[in-house]
Amino acid sequence: MALLNILHFPDPRLRTVAKAVTEFDDELRLLVSNMFETMYEAPGIGLAATQVDRHIRLLVMDVSEGRNQPRCLINPEILEADGEEETDEGCLSVPGFYEKVRRAEHIKVRSYNENGEVAEFDADGIEAVCIQHEMDHLEGKLFVDYLSNLKRNRIRSKLVKSLKQQAN
Ligand code: NI
Repeated sequence: MALLNILHFPDPRLRTVAKAVTEFDDELRLLVSNMFETMYEAPGIGLAATQVDRHIRLLVMDVSEGRNQPRCLINPEILEADGEEETDEGCLSVPGFYEKVRRAEHIKVRSYNENGEVAEFDADGIEAVCIQHEMDHLEGKLFVDYLSNLKRNRIRSKLVKSLKQQAN
């Protein structure tokens, strides 16, 4: 297994729209393991393939307290959504920033696992928030897009500045 490099906002590659997964093969399963390792190491509760510069509809997550319930969602679709919830969100691609975002409270999801098996399930709370956040990544969208221009620009300049400091 290997740790993957996580792209940071405002990297334009984070704006790529991901393509559907069509082959459920060993290469895909290796990417899934590497994404889990990268997510746990970060540490984070979710990671979309977009964030590691792989533009396919795949995300991994683990919202459990014990960090022992890995879930992999491939070609996920939201079949139903209702309610509203506002949660403080962060993102491994926007390190150090947490802001309130409004999302659906309950969702019904259909997705495939790394072996190509399809399942439908309901999610709410942090699990629903995480799935919606990671699915946004697959559309090239980030949680900072829900903020005011002022807030987003402030976050962008701080991240660009810290990137320059790291490079020096
Ligand atoms: Ni994120």
